[in-house]
Amino acid sequence: MSETNAQPLWAGRFADKPETQALGFQSSIAVDKRLAHDDIRGSRVHAAMLEKQGLIPPETASELDKELLAIAEELENGSLCIDMGAEDIHSFIEGELTRRLGDAGRMIHAGRSRNDQVAVDFRLYLKRTVLALCGEIRETIAALLDKAERYAEAVMPGYTHLQRAQPITLGCHLAAWACALKRDRGRFLDALGRLDECPLGAGALAGSGLPLDRAATAKNLGFKRPTLNAMDSVADRDFALELASAAAITQTHLSRFCEDIVIWASEEFKFIDLSEKWSTGSSIMPQKKNPDFAELIRGKAGRTAGNLVALLTTLKGLPYAYNKDLQEDKEALFDSLDTVALCMRMFRGMTGSAAFNTERMADACNGGFLEATDAADYLVRKGLPFRKAHEAAALVVRDCIDAGQRGIAERTLEQLKERSPLFDAGIYDAITPLACVRARKTLGGASPDEVRRQIAELRRDIEAPSYGNHADT
Ligand code: ARG
Repeated sequence: MSETNAQPLWAGRFADKPETQALGFQSSIAVDKRLAHDDIRGSRVHAAMLEKQGLIPPETASELDKELLAIAEELENGSLCIDMGAEDIHSFIEGELTRRLGDAGRMIHAGRSRNDQVAVDFRLYLKRTVLALCGEIRETIAALLDKAERYAEAVMPGYTHLQRAQPITLGCHLAAWACALKRDRGRFLDALGRLDECPLGAGALAGSGLPLDRAATAKNLGFKRPTLNAMDSVADRDFALELASAAAITQTHLSRFCEDIVIWASEEFKFIDLSEKWSTGSSIMPQKKNPDFAELIRGKAGRTAGNLVALLTTLKGLPYAYNKDLQEDKEALFDSLDTVALCMRMFRGMTGSAAFNTERMADACNGGFLEATDAADYLVRKGLPFRKAHEAAALVVRDCIDAGQRGIAERTLEQLKERSPLFDAGIYDAITPLACVRARKTLGGASPDEVRRQIAELRRDIEAPSYGNHADT
């Protein structure tokens, strides 16, 4: 490990040595150390530009480049450790360069401020990690769609108010989850499109008096273009807000899916049997098999919502341009993105290894009068106004309840005709759970063929090239 280079970059202005506690308080190295490789990447491109613009000699530029590469490699192989006494990752890397190269190291910061440096590092980091996160979401969607296809005909009750409502299929339910994740992925990609501008060269807040080539650094760092305004470049964190929001929404979706799973895993429902590998037991109740993983994913929605609110609150009162408060941005967003990425993997593991109890789901379609809407629709097809059809079907349901019967099909045709003469023998085939589901052929409906069409469309979406297409050009 290198000896501490905790001498702040700004030490020259001060006669007094900084108070150790105070320095520690304002250090961000514990959080921003994960930007090391992005910082090195940005520094290499900056140094090359300085050389091209005649601001540093070619020998210095190649020395800097070589040493930056060496630092990256040493960090990678563990022969160099990040000095936790450094103020931040930018100070650490620059300090290393100076320690190794002397004056050559001291040349790299020309035309640059840590304000634009942190902004560019943060964006570079996000561009690579958010794309990876989108890959996690895409894999989760793909896994859900495979299952949705497999269970396209598996009837189960659909619920509103957690009361049995109408028959659907498990395939329809899983495709609904996939739709939500598709939009989540889109939100991340949209945000990436907007943050794809390079703040490097904005300096502290007002640009530089040195002849920097911002278009070159933007291009060489893989950005679509340089940012438009220097002050905005160092003050803006709405890219972090957008991503924190996308993360909170995604995690909220996962949380809702997990709530379904917790309910389905209960003894009362028994729609799903979670693998023992993805369940936990109780320290006191020997019989317990708990859906802890689903609960924990659900619980983590609180964290991601909290991170979003924390970021919004931090930004709210800040005067333009940079303020140290902005240093609080990374911890919140890193945590949200880490959380969502991890939970995506956990969710896939848990659902991929679970057994769906389709018999139990089919059984649950009987007894709750889920066929009542279809009985009313039957009469509508015969010409009865819907409100009258609804009333006739409601009376049939009441008759059943009074007679202790669990389904409309238990009534004889004569009994049904007492409520509407339009009932005929065809009603019995029209109100089986599968018939109810098959009838729902409207766009977006629960019929197996329609759900298969939805699955195909969702598959096309995740197979299309993502980033470029979604870029906000
Ligand atoms: N660690 C700082 C941050 O994350 C870097 C920028 C510091 N700039 C400054 N003027 N103090 O925001």
